[in-house]
Amino acid sequence: MGTFYITTPIYYVNDEPHIGHAYSTILADVLSRYHRLFGDEVFFSTGTDEHGLKVQEAAKKRGVETKTHCDEMVTRFVSLWEKLGISYTRFVRTTDKKHTFVVQSLLTYLYERGDIYFDTYEGNYCIPEERFWTEKDLKDGRCPSCGREVITIEEKNYFFKLSKYRDWLKDYIGEHPDFIKPETRKNEILGFLRNPLSDLCITRPKTRLEWGIEIPFDKKYVTYVWFDALINYISTIGVYRDNDAFQKWWPCDIHLVGKDITTTHSVYWPIMLKSAGFELPRTIFAHGWWLVQETKMSKSLGNIVRPIDMVDKYGSAGFRYVLVKNMVLGSDANFSEEMLTATINSDLANDYGNLLSRVLGMVEKYFDGTVPEPSVTSSIDRKVIESGKSLPEAVKVFIDRIEMNNAISAIFAYISIINKYIDQTAPWKLHKKNKMAELGTVLYSACEGIRLVTVLLSPIIIDKADTALAAFSEEGLNYIDRLNDEEEIFKWGKLKPGTEVNKIESLFPRIDLEIKEETLRRDRVDIPKDTELIDIEYFNRIDMRVGKVLEAVPVKGSRKLLKIVVDIGDEKRQIVAGIADYYKAEELCGKEIVVVSNLKPVKIMGTESRGMLLAAAKGSKLTVISVDREIEPGSKIR
Ligand code: MSP
Repeated sequence: MGTFYITTPIYYVNDEPHIGHAYSTILADVLSRYHRLFGDEVFFSTGTDEHGLKVQEAAKKRGVETKTHCDEMVTRFVSLWEKLGISYTRFVRTTDKKHTFVVQSLLTYLYERGDIYFDTYEGNYCIPEERFWTEKDLKDGRCPSCGREVITIEEKNYFFKLSKYRDWLKDYIGEHPDFIKPETRKNEILGFLRNPLSDLCITRPKTRLEWGIEIPFDKKYVTYVWFDALINYISTIGVYRDNDAFQKWWPCDIHLVGKDITTTHSVYWPIMLKSAGFELPRTIFAHGWWLVQETKMSKSLGNIVRPIDMVDKYGSAGFRYVLVKNMVLGSDANFSEEMLTATINSDLANDYGNLLSRVLGMVEKYFDGTVPEPSVTSSIDRKVIESGKSLPEAVKVFIDRIEMNNAISAIFAYISIINKYIDQTAPWKLHKKNKMAELGTVLYSACEGIRLVTVLLSPIIIDKADTALAAFSEEGLNYIDRLNDEEEIFKWGKLKPGTEVNKIESLFPRIDLEIKEETLRRDRVDIPKDTELIDIEYFNRIDMRVGKVLEAVPVKGSRKLLKIVVDIGDEKRQIVAGIADYYKAEELCGKEIVVVSNLKPVKIMGTESRGMLLAAAKGSKLTVISVDREIEPGSKIR
């Protein structure tokens, strides 16, 4: 049994929790729970970043004490984490006394060893706003907040010697391939370190900002928020330097961060640690962004997804599952309610939930609700048994590499093996032929496979796994804790024949969602600025074919939609496309167009759509992509 220490960023306490915050925290929770399941002792820390001008100003605006403001705001995070089943060990706040103590101790140490010095700072200052802006922040040379002119002023401040450690950090990153993940982020940081590194201004005079941690060696100053915030990863352990808790948990195994805060974590933080004589964290893992219709979420666009709404509507298990599954390594991902419900329906309701109720129903029907004894085994049974035995290890390997989508794929590949097993062995036929020994083996193996799958999904779908496990044991999730102590949770055959199965309600009822017409926007064709390069395998997953339009008619009740039937070689497909503003139905008939054929089916305005046609759009123009020369319908696009 090892130890595992994981952190999320600490969130700005002023912000309303959004899906990005929820994602980091859910991912950290899922990883923590997997590590516990695989036998590690876990320390999982999250919390809030509570100092700085914005917080001070927000409190002033509300007319409350700044600390009171923080105490009120922080509850939004705490209650969301409760709703999402987040199992953190500690919730750290930068206004905690313990945190202040650690920050001040560290500042004194770095100052005494000569890595902090006093110097003049020159910058763009906005007098009415009472703050500095960097050159990048300025809008046409003016204050980005009030639009007024800025002036250049000098200010005395303390600086931290980042520059001194640049070469050391470059070498360190080169020698530790797992330090910054994924590779794209690591290369960005190495690129950044090719340029000279300026020292970091780590103080603000109290005349400008009061709400911060006082500099222990100069009471006229407070600490710069980032310098203060990063130290939470040490102060959360509760101690400083050489005592037992610190020895036990430091260095941290994974700092989970979003890609926008990679530099602070992979440049400032390691240098602070090096200067202080601490070991460095093992991995800084930067995940991508959740976008909405390919666009960053922002208050001004009004496209912020509130996690609390999603949980209230669809439950925490489904929401957690979809977020964890649908973001690949460090790439960005698109969020929509359609995507959320389609994934819940296909994976959790169809593949997993239906399998569970089908199998429990058959145990009920053919064996009076008692798990039968397995006996004879054929090669089909052996496949289920052997794959089940090797599944936990396969999942563990992916979890260790933080490849959540691969871990989930492995579990669902096994679910599909069990589903096929039921279809192939057809228990209802075995029963008819009175082959009770074979029937017993099939249903035992299916139950045992489902038990394993449920245990392996439990870090993600916590409460639903509890319900599913209750089918085989009154204990629900406690069953995992008990068997885990005995290190036997994954042993094939742990489910005792003769166990009475309990009826459970439908685990994931299908969600019927009609896509609203206005969500089918055709005008978002901008390529996100930070589009990443993708592997050819990724592209190859999209199945595109030539389709010949056989029929096209307007969708009833819609001005924008056309219902199109296309011949895509081996079948005729119905597609709903939002192009009625640009094409008359009859114009399309006979055209050979390009169809994406492996999209999950959706209902749009009550009409099923199984695929998508490709079109180019800019401004008010749109043109459907067609092929240059005649070719058989169904030909693959490469
Ligand atoms: N307070 C700092 C972190 C200090 S850690 C020592 C901070 N806070 S934040 O609240 O703005 O952001 C916290 C995290 O949320 C970041 O990792 C950021 O990348 C992440 N996200 C913010 N919006 C996001 C999405 N739309 N999608 C995914 N994560 C994004 O930065």
